[in-house]
Amino acid sequence: MNNIRSSYTDSLNFYGKEDPQSLAEQFGTPLYVYNENILRERCREFLKLSTHDGFRINYSAKANTNPHLLKIIQEEGCRIDAMSPGELLLDLKAGFTSDKILYVCNNVSDDELKFALSHNLLISVDSLSQIERLCMLNPNGKIMVRFNPGIGAGHSAKVVTGGKETKFGVDPEKLPQVLEILEKYKVRLAGINHHIGSLFMDGADYINAAKVLMDLATRLPHLDELEIIDFGGGFGIPYEKYDEKPRFDLEAFSKLLDATLEEWSKKHNYKGLFYLEPGRYIAAECGLVLGSVFVHKDNSDKYYVGTDLGFNVLARPMLYDSFHDVEIYRKNGSPDDVCIEQTIVGNICESGDIIAKNRSLPLLKEGDTIAMLDAGAYGFVMSSNYTSRLRPAEVLIKADGTAKLIRRKETFEDIFATIIDD
Ligand SMILES: Cc1ncc(COP(=O)(O)O)c(C=O)c1O
Repeated sequence: MNNIRSSYTDSLNFYGKEDPQSLAEQFGTPLYVYNENILRERCREFLKLSTHDGFRINYSAKANTNPHLLKIIQEEGCRIDAMSPGELLLDLKAGFTSDKILYVCNNVSDDELKFALSHNLLISVDSLSQIERLCMLNPNGKIMVRFNPGIGAGHSAKVVTGGKETKFGVDPEKLPQVLEILEKYKVRLAGINHHIGSLFMDGADYINAAKVLMDLATRLPHLDELEIIDFGGGFGIPYEKYDEKPRFDLEAFSKLLDATLEEWSKKHNYKGLFYLEPGRYIAAECGLVLGSVFVHKDNSDKYYVGTDLGFNVLARPMLYDSFHDVEIYRKNGSPDDVCIEQTIVGNICESGDIIAKNRSLPLLKEGDTIAMLDAGAYGFVMSSNYTSRLRPAEVLIKADGTAKLIRRKETFEDIFATIIDD
């Protein structure tokens, strides 16, 4: 095997005892591949961010819900959230108990609220109208309310979830109305939360928003009844692996966070829990997606590489113009010395079906296997059956370096199963 560009995964021993081309041959491409050791490491980094007694990590399952990965995350000591009935069922399947699952939803039906209540979950809702509906369904119960701290952050306007331009959260100014509804139904405010957005590389906004939420907590009539203050997720990872972009500075963030939590809880005699809710940081770097190169061609002086990695497989580049770095694996032959600018595309009949645009890379060839790195978060979970293509299999490289199939590739029977025959 003569890998053309693989120093990043080599340095991590990402493939363990396997190699990417044999995985591609054995399981077919597209293929999501995860590494257990990296997933465990990311959980551990977060779990030790604060020494405060009430500090907890609540993994945001929307980033990746494969129950095999969730089980590892649970073994490491994280809690978990669910944002839909399906996520709730997958959390349970992975072994999380109800007391470790938080239901964080917005704009859902009464049936969905009842479903979460039937599993004894604490539910976070984020509008006066949903607060009232949940109170009606669960009088004398508990509730969590998501506020909007007025601060947002993230890599794209589509994932900034705090601030005036978003649909999320209750305006803290509406606290009196919130309390009035809770009083009417004798419902206890057991938690408050927010989430400012996704993929920031600097923790300053996060800490500022956390202070806004803690400040709001001090305005509650019964701070002693509050069980959880949840600051949400959003911690970024450097996607530009071959440019050696700096990582999120967890050490500096940890110092700031620890001091903030200690000082505030002492001052206000708060005995409850503090949650951080990372999704991407935990799951992104343990995963990549392998694809095959079938075509190369030039069109109007632009060099295109045709693969099976359409936006049905990895949607982030199409949705957000996101960057994922590329590795190239070739069985025989030697690398071309010069890099040329190439655009890697998928097999969907849309001109936006671009997975890597204008990248300076060694010339890709038919038969090459490529990897789009950092696809563990918002990768498989956002894949689709667009153009009636089958969603890919998922493989886990276990701690002992061997590969385990953790999701088979879909079949046509799977995707046609819901069609009603005449
Ligand atoms: C409420 C909430 N918490 C946590 C997350 C996780 O965000 P991230 O994956 O950026 O850490 C999200 C993602 O959108 C979210 O909506």
